[in-house]
Amino acid sequence: MGRIVQLDHPLVCHHLAALRDRSTPPRQFREQVRRLSVLLCCEASTSLPLRHTQVETPLATAECRELEGRIGIVPVLRAGLGMCEAVQDMIPHAEVWHLGFYRDESTLEPVEYYRKFSDSPPATALILDPMLATGGSASEGISIIRDWGVQTISLLCIIAAPEGIARVTALHPDVDIFCCAVDSHLNEKAYIVPGLGDAGDRIFNTMRSTTTYLTIAVLFTAASATVQAHCQVPCGIYDDQMRIHMMEEHVTTIEKAMTQIEANENINQTVRWIMNKDEHADELTEIVTYYFMTQRIKPDMENYEENLKLLHEIMIYSMKAKQTTDLANVTKLNELIAQFEQLYLGEDADHDHEAMEDDDD
Ligand code: PRP
Ligand code: URA
Repeated sequence: MGRIVQLDHPLVCHHLAALRDRSTPPRQFREQVRRLSVLLCCEASTSLPLRHTQVETPLATAECRELEGRIGIVPVLRAGLGMCEAVQDMIPHAEVWHLGFYRDESTLEPVEYYRKFSDSPPATALILDPMLATGGSASEGISIIRDWGVQTISLLCIIAAPEGIARVTALHPDVDIFCCAVDSHLNEKAYIVPGLGDAGDRIFNTMRSTTTYLTIAVLFTAASATVQAHCQVPCGIYDDQMRIHMMEEHVTTIEKAMTQIEANENINQTVRWIMNKDEHADELTEIVTYYFMTQRIKPDMENYEENLKLLHEIMIYSMKAKQTTDLANVTKLNELIAQFEQLYLGEDADHDHEAMEDDDD
């Protein structure tokens, strides 16, 4: 029967407090993840097999022991990457193999998008993932690693939910789980409460915080005020055609990222392309929401509902483009943007410069 070990150490408590704090910035958040990962690694390695060895010190021969057998570290992308270097530092000869999952937002089940394993598995695997929520990702990861042929598997997570622990122990009773805290429960979106929020977003600084949105909103409000104050400004503030071209460019970048993710063998490059794809999909959504839906589409305009429907569909497909590398989503995005351009700009579509003045002028 696998062990469930919750670390009970003053340093764990101390670093966990800073990690949970919503005001902890990404750089400090990553440092806390690393510190906690070192402590987790120490605990998780207590039962690793040792063999006898002799070492020559400057004075004499010392009878020593060293780790025996191949050890694999398996960070689960993305958030597990934040723990990887710290564990590698503690076990420098360990091999690092990568697994990538994201949680489908509707089913909450894990979807695998990356796997880099060799033909010969190590004897032991330490799976790294800071969050054990529903346990879907961890259970799927353990099954894959077990099928690969690894004999001894441990799961290292920073915060676990009771639901996740129950699922993993039910499906994989022989796996040891090490965690820094077991929290209260999952909320309706399967986030751990009180938890720390989205670990991947906090490590990689990809959260769209309220502050960011507020800043954007304030900027747009300021821009509107400027337009009203200078109603003769002929163009450049509301340049619809330019925004549509920007949307098309984002889709082109997403397409390139998808192709690179599929083709790339280098994990670092792959992760960069995944993040790049996420950013461009977010920027595309931002044009749809903050420019068109908030600023340009008005209830009294012609084709109001049809315009909104197309914009909403663009948002849905840009989310799908974030979740997959399926080029069909790119094709659909291009079609939708072309339809929106035709509907919204009509005869003005595709002219080089068709800036529209504010309706309130
Ligand atoms: C998080 C986390 C786990 C998973 C846990 O990843 O890092 O992998 O959710 O949830 P589960 O126990 O319900 O499966 P996420 O899907 O947010 O991806 P990310 O690390 O790329 O942000
Ligand atoms: N993934 C996270 O990053 N946080 C949670 O609370 C649950 C899943």
